[in-house]
Amino acid sequence: MKKIAVLTSGGDAPGMNACIRAVVRCAIVKGYSVYGVMRGYEGLVTEQIIELNNRSVGNILHTGGTILKTSRCTDFMTEEGFKKAILTLKKYKIDCLVVLGGDGTIRGAQSLKNAGINVICIPATIDNDLYYTDYTIGFDTAVTTIVSLINNVRDTSISHDRTSVIEVMGASCGDIALRSGVASGAEVIVVPEMPFTIDGVASAINNSIKKGKLSSIVIVNEKVISAPVLAAELASRGIESRPLVIGHIQRGGSPSNFDRILASRFGDAAIKLIDKQEFGIVVGILNGKIINVDIENAFKKVRKFDTELYNLAQTLSL
Ligand code: F6P
Repeated sequence: MKKIAVLTSGGDAPGMNACIRAVVRCAIVKGYSVYGVMRGYEGLVTEQIIELNNRSVGNILHTGGTILKTSRCTDFMTEEGFKKAILTLKKYKIDCLVVLGGDGTIRGAQSLKNAGINVICIPATIDNDLYYTDYTIGFDTAVTTIVSLINNVRDTSISHDRTSVIEVMGASCGDIALRSGVASGAEVIVVPEMPFTIDGVASAINNSIKKGKLSSIVIVNEKVISAPVLAAELASRGIESRPLVIGHIQRGGSPSNFDRILASRFGDAAIKLIDKQEFGIVVGILNGKIINVDIENAFKKVRKFDTELYNLAQTLSL
């Protein structure tokens, strides 16, 4: 009987559990036995392996986080740690390793592939910063969570005629800020992909005030500027502001329907590839269709920032 192992690595993302469930159940139906590697690549280095069955992935579809736990493992990147990881895979006679995670995780899988290990990668990160795919698991839920929090902030911001500066995650990708900005009607969206100055933000808010809009929502991506710094700068320019760093709240919680379905489709796609003996692939979704991309090409494509949506946000916040 063929053996598959699955792990989650890097920042957790809502929908990882739905995907683990799909990987396990789709594999078992096809006659594979499935192992879970605990704590990402750390579990390969330190041999933390458990057996998974249909029951061990029951009642997790709707939960955030990852039942397999996760880590950002630096030992795996050392020669010694990497060798140990490979030894674990050989010891358990794993025919293919399925990894769920973001760019760092996929780069780790690429190294394993180059060392002769069969791998399939599934994009799972709230950042949506893997450009060969339209969506990564967790992004939709993170945006939904942020928008719901901003609804609350807006109430108090309006009551006090204030500006609320809200910092969101996303690493160097502005997708979370852009989507949550459009969906929450933010007056200003600050992303790494577009030019930014503090004076520019201040003048946009002052223009709003002149037009009778006495409160504003400003969304900033974490890498451009922090919310406390921007709020203080705006205050020093006479704009009453309050900062909010949403932080890890945006990474937890029950996955959205979109993420549950995406995760289920990705898990199924991974097992179909393994069944066809096709390895070294990252699955993704483009225009609603599941795609398979050679792992070597996963980082070559650069998705253009959606300037149309960014401009629309500006028009709608007038
Ligand atoms: O990659 C996911 C992510 O949540 C990023 O948006 C953020 O920059 C980073 O992880 C935070 O990492 P940590 O949970 O280690 O603080």
